[in-house]
Amino acid sequence: MSDVSSPPPAEAARTAVVIPAAGRGVRLGPGAPKALRTLGGVPMLIHAVRAMAASRAVSLVVVVAPPDGAAEVKSLLDTHALPERTDFVVVPGGETRQESVRLGLEALPPEYGIVLVHDAARPLVPVDTVDTVIEAVREGAVAAVPALPLADTVKEVEPAAPGEPEPVLATPERARLRAVQTPQGFARATLVRAHEQITGAVTDDAGMVEQLGEPVVAVAGHEEAFKVTRPLDLVLAEAVLARRRLNDGF
Ligand code: CTP
Ligand code: MG
Repeated sequence: MSDVSSPPPAEAARTAVVIPAAGRGVRLGPGAPKALRTLGGVPMLIHAVRAMAASRAVSLVVVVAPPDGAAEVKSLLDTHALPERTDFVVVPGGETRQESVRLGLEALPPEYGIVLVHDAARPLVPVDTVDTVIEAVREGAVAAVPALPLADTVKEVEPAAPGEPEPVLATPERARLRAVQTPQGFARATLVRAHEQITGAVTDDAGMVEQLGEPVVAVAGHEEAFKVTRPLDLVLAEAVLARRRLNDGF
């Protein structure tokens, strides 16, 4: 049911999420595309969509599906319970994450001034993290990324062939480093410009905005926003879900 008692948010602050979900999940091993693999019996993508739709600020979710899987993703969204206040659009993705995000951005109606980009492969991000990112952009940040301090010391090396020793070049001061997660939040116009102008390979959207020379801020990330990348991550994700079920009183 839609809430008629509260006015809609200001036009400029309307928030949409683009969820790139078109990857194959090579590092997870053979099987279905990663976003369609299940956790606790529910496809990872559905967990990710629910995590975004859990934020009251989010009124549109654009899912970027595997190129040949858009129909399957549409029917998955139809068969799983999702909040009624949120609209869903499905578009086919591209060869790279960057291209998939761009295709998702092209599907956005004009009225959305804030865009989040969230990996389907981060299905368990808490809603507080989503809201923290949105809040930072609403308060004027051009780009905001959830980030965590590192547990490990990080070395820069001269990469060598697999199995060969690699010379260490430097040890950046750990206290100044952060591991960056999604959802990453943006002023829409800036993210669109980044995707138009930046062509080199990047591993996140904020990196493209940095290359434009625009400021990016880091806000508090969360352990449970980890990316499901390798088989062990599935074990961790199932354990997080089991702990949530326990805490919810089952
Ligand atoms: N992604 C995408 N389109 C691509 C490649 C990746 O939409 N062509 C999405 C993935 O579906 C995932 C997110 O980008 O939700 C982060 O990418 P990653 O974790 O690397 O997923 P995959 O590329 O699927 O995994 P791998 O690199 O192991 O193949
Ligand atoms: Mg990948």
